[in-house]
Amino acid sequence: MKNIYTIKNFIKPFKKKIEIEGDKSLSIRWALLASQANGKSIAKNLLKSEDVLNTLKCLKRLGVKIILDKNKCIINGCGINGYNYKKNVILNAGNSGTLGRLLVGLLVHAKKNIKIIGDKSLSKRDFSRVIIPLRKFGATFNSNKNKLPIIIKGTKNPRPIKYTENLGSAQCKTAVMLASLNTNGTTIIKAKKSRNHTELLFKFLKIPIKINRNKKYDIIKVSGVKKISSLNYKIPSDISSAAFFIILTVLSKKSELTLKNININPSRIGMLKIIKLMGVKIIYRNIKYYKGEKIADINVSSTETLKPINCPINLNSSAIDEFLLIFLVAAKANGVSLFKNLSELNQKESPRLKWGSKILNLIGIRTNITKDSIEIYGNPKLSVYKNKTITINNYLKDHRVFMTSVIAALTFGGKWIIHDKDSIKTSFPSFLKIIKSLKN
Ligand code: S3P
Repeated sequence: MKNIYTIKNFIKPFKKKIEIEGDKSLSIRWALLASQANGKSIAKNLLKSEDVLNTLKCLKRLGVKIILDKNKCIINGCGINGYNYKKNVILNAGNSGTLGRLLVGLLVHAKKNIKIIGDKSLSKRDFSRVIIPLRKFGATFNSNKNKLPIIIKGTKNPRPIKYTENLGSAQCKTAVMLASLNTNGTTIIKAKKSRNHTELLFKFLKIPIKINRNKKYDIIKVSGVKKISSLNYKIPSDISSAAFFIILTVLSKKSELTLKNININPSRIGMLKIIKLMGVKIIYRNIKYYKGEKIADINVSSTETLKPINCPINLNSSAIDEFLLIFLVAAKANGVSLFKNLSELNQKESPRLKWGSKILNLIGIRTNITKDSIEIYGNPKLSVYKNKTITINNYLKDHRVFMTSVIAALTFGGKWIIHDKDSIKTSFPSFLKIIKSLKN
């Protein structure tokens, strides 16, 4: 069948240099902010995945003029509160939690009602986490028990708010930051640590923002603005996509990989810190800074001996999209690993704590899971019997479940039948092409 990917063999040793597509979080944020700016913004290396293309489609429905070609994306900003759209317009966020939640924040001041919908996976996800703080700005949200579809009834005069973000969610923090742009005053956010791309973009755009960093929380103060200047941006490559190839290399035999121009923003590299603690050597080369983001080439090699880990919970948020891969490393470690405080993993495109455990059980690894933790009994000699068939399906087309399964198949062996190959289009359309290039 067309949408099924089958793997029957281990990957052979490789030594290569690869390039990864643009960062998803930054691509979505750039487009949303550019649409609110005054004038023309240009992005290079914008990720052309479904989540980002849906962002552009939603903006077009709000009346934003956008040109997308092979090399660049041009957005003609409408200015703050300058969208021009039909009453009851419907915006489809597709599979993207980031797009759905950020749109709700961006649109607290909507002049006409707006309906936000999403696909099957996104329609199962919680929106109370953004609706509750965003109501305080004065907007009204009619939802399906805190899930999509949501109808936003905006407020003419959004008021600044005080808000404590306790989940370590950059989506919640960003939704409130975007809403605060349209207020007449200063919004104060006490936020558990999470990726800080929005803060860096606000600074770069000279939006009034002050940040006080404490050990566990950041206090972020954002004041409303009348204007945002346009922003040209070259999106660095996505560490969350690079992660699949880093782990592929770690778990393969006699291989080495260099990944060019990867965004190694400290709030995104929890996975690299965790696998380092497990014995993997990561080398950064050509480190540079671009508009506050830290970028480097990453070099990694196969790692024979992997140590188990009692994973420090302060690394959870900066590794949140990479845990399925980290679990594969733990499966090959020399002992029992423990990962705690991970209830957020079950809030993703699919319940990923459950899926992580399920994939490991299918390859013969024992796990104990609770609602927010997993214990993994590693086996350094892990190898799946050649004729054992492993089928992965009904996983709500979660792109990261698909790609993690491919990495497991290529490194642990067995005969894998992985459904819904198209899911890669969500975040990493060139994933299978790069896999193929490593085989040549
Ligand atoms: C994202 C934040 C994270 C992450 C998601 C992208 C973002 O979600 O899982 O893939 O761009 O802000 P949470 O904020 O819900 O943890």
